[in-house]
Amino acid sequence: MAGTPHLVRGVDHVAYPTLDPAATVAFYRDALGFPVVHSICAAGWGPADHPDFIHFFFDIGNGDRLAFFYYFGYEPPRRGVKGDVYARFEDDVPDFFVSSRHLAIHVDGETDLMEYRRRLDSSRWPVELQVQHETIESIYTHDPNGYMVEITRALRPVTPQEDLDANLTIDALLDVLRADRPTMDALLARKAELILERAAGWAVPAPKLATGAPTR
Ligand SMILES: [Fe+2]
Repeated sequence: MAGTPHLVRGVDHVAYPTLDPAATVAFYRDALGFPVVHSICAAGWGPADHPDFIHFFFDIGNGDRLAFFYYFGYEPPRRGVKGDVYARFEDDVPDFFVSSRHLAIHVDGETDLMEYRRRLDSSRWPVELQVQHETIESIYTHDPNGYMVEITRALRPVTPQEDLDANLTIDALLDVLRADRPTMDALLARKAELILERAAGWAVPAPKLATGAPTR
């Protein structure tokens, strides 16, 4: 919101459970080369039914860290065949939903992205997909826990116009979510209305929209 200081400074750490800490270390430390930077031996920290656990961290650059919990002797009940060790789903849940949750780590450029591609391709976890999106190029694989990992580079800076567009999209989404069945068509129509409402306040005048019969 305007005037609200933006005080946060990126990701300190994201944390996941693992049932296979040996493979997790093999993937992140040995294959990718992310140093282990911190670990906690949490013996008897929790209540009586809480297993002892190890909480360990990998440096993912920029002072940010990826952390794991390993709980001695705990095996969660296995339900479903899709997903990762934290979230499992039955076969009728579509792949687009199951694979939507992931961690993306950025690198400075193409050379570095290809270096991580080389490291993964020579490991037990080769790159599954390399793709260019609108503004980024990414490689993807799944770690030994089933978590999708993306490594990405910027193809170009995101422009202020794209940030403006993002805010229009989200404001339109919030408006159409009040409908019984929100749709993309409704969102796009609402977004067009918001553009017309707000265009007068933008620094660069919006082009005049044609009215009446089209002219050649
Ligand atoms: Fe992503």
